[in-house]
Amino acid sequence: MMKHHAKLEKNSIFMLILVIIVISVGGIVEIIPLFRKEVTIEPVAGVRPYTPLELAGRDIYLREGCYNCHSQQIRPLRDEVERYGHYSLAAESMYDHPFQWGSKRTGPDLARVGGKYSDEWQVQHLVDPRSLVPESIMPTYSHLMDHGVNLVSLKKHLKALQRLGVPYTDEMVAEAQRDAAAQVNPDGDNAEKLRARYGEDILVRDFDGNPKFISEMDALVAYLQMLGTMVDLTDYNPDLAATENTQEGM
Ligand code: HEC
Repeated sequence: MMKHHAKLEKNSIFMLILVIIVISVGGIVEIIPLFRKEVTIEPVAGVRPYTPLELAGRDIYLREGCYNCHSQQIRPLRDEVERYGHYSLAAESMYDHPFQWGSKRTGPDLARVGGKYSDEWQVQHLVDPRSLVPESIMPTYSHLMDHGVNLVSLKKHLKALQRLGVPYTDEMVAEAQRDAAAQVNPDGDNAEKLRARYGEDILVRDFDGNPKFISEMDALVAYLQMLGTMVDLTDYNPDLAATENTQEGM
């Protein structure tokens, strides 16, 4: 056996062919079953497509390159779960095209940042991070306060996502612009329609503290405040409530 092996090691082409065969077998065994499955992501109650305003906020998140410093994926490791909360579920990013898991954490993970701070904190932190966290190296994004969010393109954006399989209805696509405006105007007539389309838990309020117009800041904060809040995780994992209780006793 050893004799044959020595021969094999000296013949690089033959070795390469054998390596390719071995890796292919491993790959086929892992990949083929995925093609035969109807769904690869376990559906989880509460996960819904983004509202048009959240989607606009997500675009700003991409445009400004927030992903260069922030990941959106909490791994199921103890240190991560204790710092950031319940580990991320695949279903939570099933409507993200492209997903924002990221691999670089210059700043903290943002997968569950929704509801962690007030809107005022988020706005102040984006306008001037060092006024809240003196040692912060995050850039300032005060320009988002002065720019109106692009509402006109939202309809096309929803339409494209619909083609990719995100379950936006034709009505959601048609009303995208109105729904985006409705989300920052709790007293308007359309807020109820927005909730009827996307769910009762949608946050409807003026996010940036300036009700005069819908700024890019409104959209980005609406997006951040939603992150990681769609799934009721005590519902999803009954063991979680039990672990939380034991940790309190520690
Ligand atoms: C150069 C890297 C960098 C970029 C780019 C960046 N951040 Fe940050 N971010 C940080 C660092 C470092 C912190 C931690 C210090 C602090 O809170 O300011 C942070 C903190 C945060 C926090 C608070 C998280 C928490 O749990 O306390 C939020 C929210 C946030 N960033 C959002 C954003 C958004 C939105 C963008 C894009 C518009 C962005 N960041 C771009 C580095 C960055």
